Amino acid sequence: MFNSEIYTERRNALRKLIPSGIVLLPGNSEAAYNYSANTYTFRQDSNFSYFFGLENPDFAGVIDIDNNIDYIFGNDFEIDDIIWMGPQPKVIDLALKVGVKNTSSLSELAVFVNNAIQKRRPIHFAPTYRAETTLQVCGLLGLNPLRIRDYASLPLIEAVVKLRSIKSDLEVAEIEKAIGTAWHMFTTGMRMAHPGRKEQEIVGAMEGISIGQGRPVSFPIILSTNGQILHNHHHENILKEGKMMVMDAGTETALNYCSDITRTVPVGGKFSQKQREIYEIVLNANLNGIAATKPGTFYRDCHTVAAETIASGLKDLGLMKGDVKEAVAAGAHALFFPHGLGHMLGMDVHDMEGLGQIHVGYDNEIQPSTQFGTAYLRLGRRLQPGFVLTNEPGIYFIPELIDMWKGEKKYQEFLNYDKIEEYRDFGGIRIEDDILVTADGNRVLGKPIPKTVAEVEATMAEKL
Ligand code: GLY
Ligand code: MN
Ligand code: MN
Repeated sequence: MFNSEIYTERRNALRKLIPSGIVLLPGNSEAAYNYSANTYTFRQDSNFSYFFGLENPDFAGVIDIDNNIDYIFGNDFEIDDIIWMGPQPKVIDLALKVGVKNTSSLSELAVFVNNAIQKRRPIHFAPTYRAETTLQVCGLLGLNPLRIRDYASLPLIEAVVKLRSIKSDLEVAEIEKAIGTAWHMFTTGMRMAHPGRKEQEIVGAMEGISIGQGRPVSFPIILSTNGQILHNHHHENILKEGKMMVMDAGTETALNYCSDITRTVPVGGKFSQKQREIYEIVLNANLNGIAATKPGTFYRDCHTVAAETIASGLKDLGLMKGDVKEAVAAGAHALFFPHGLGHMLGMDVHDMEGLGQIHVGYDNEIQPSTQFGTAYLRLGRRLQPGFVLTNEPGIYFIPELIDMWKGEKKYQEFLNYDKIEEYRDFGGIRIEDDILVTADGNRVLGKPIPKTVAEVEATMAEKL
């Protein structure tokens, strides 16, 4: 964990943004895998982790705004726990490490909250995303679980987004640590991507590197020679020469900071001309999008820069036609690039998405687009120094979407369907980096992971 002062400062910063009442921040409990004693790897709630730093299940934090007191509620280990899981410091000793002097048992939380209800004090809680937490909060507050989101505190959501959006140097260093592990994962994946190997073997090796560093992957690895399926978790294919393989993966650090990287490689290690041409368009979209990333710019505009780069490159190859800006404004590029340029990254891969994407990526100045493709852009608002975000353009040939649009004669003035047919079995290409917005521009975070055609080919030549 960070020094105790960091957590105290974070709670005090939150205190300044919430007018009155108490803030209830439940940590996560263990989640059953197939029966309650057999659990998934424990993952702390990111908000609890941000403000209270402890990685123990079944803890809850309370920030009493009116009385300027912080509490941690949790139970000390009893002998049965010690027999099965070993000794653990007392809750008070753990709490002191994060600057909290007041602790009590979990059963006392109900008494505390009940007291606040009796006094009609505002009780702020964030939207929940796990059934156990939903039931816990609803049990404490006497709410209907089906309507819990209606009762989540907008002031708390907005305050947490404000604080967690700006990453400190220490947080950026954690994210870079996670990218360092990703470097090992991706260079290993590249070196293994040769004909005859099964996708699952590469997934296993990459995930093994993450676990070997002590932490699980930050989301289930996406790895496929059918990269046109954006979030493909099917890993049964045997690699064949002529296919492109998308790898989208990341890890998280002990403090829960994530990496989220994508690279796409030609099976066998050498790009064909056709593969190189499409790859370099995606690479240019990534680079132009990065170049446009600076404080004060709407991330929606960086998305547009990437989309126009894609449309322009595809026009040069004869797949698109007409005026590039008009084509992108109309949404024709979304046949190939049907998702957004990126999202915030931090203690969650899609950072703070549990609080509601609208509060994280948009604000009073800008609302989400309703246009197919751009509607999936998770971050559209003006950038500020300290934001960490992903830049992940792609070009995909999705046969079902091509057939649908062609059948509807959609965007015929911008799309050359005859030429597009030649790419029907191409698959997809995505390139993703993690970017820090700085005072005067941006910095691509972490140890550079091979990205240019020459770098990818050189890495793949070191065959595993
Ligand atoms: N890993 C999913 C994404 O790139 O957003
Ligand atoms: Mn990704
Ligand atoms: Mn991403």
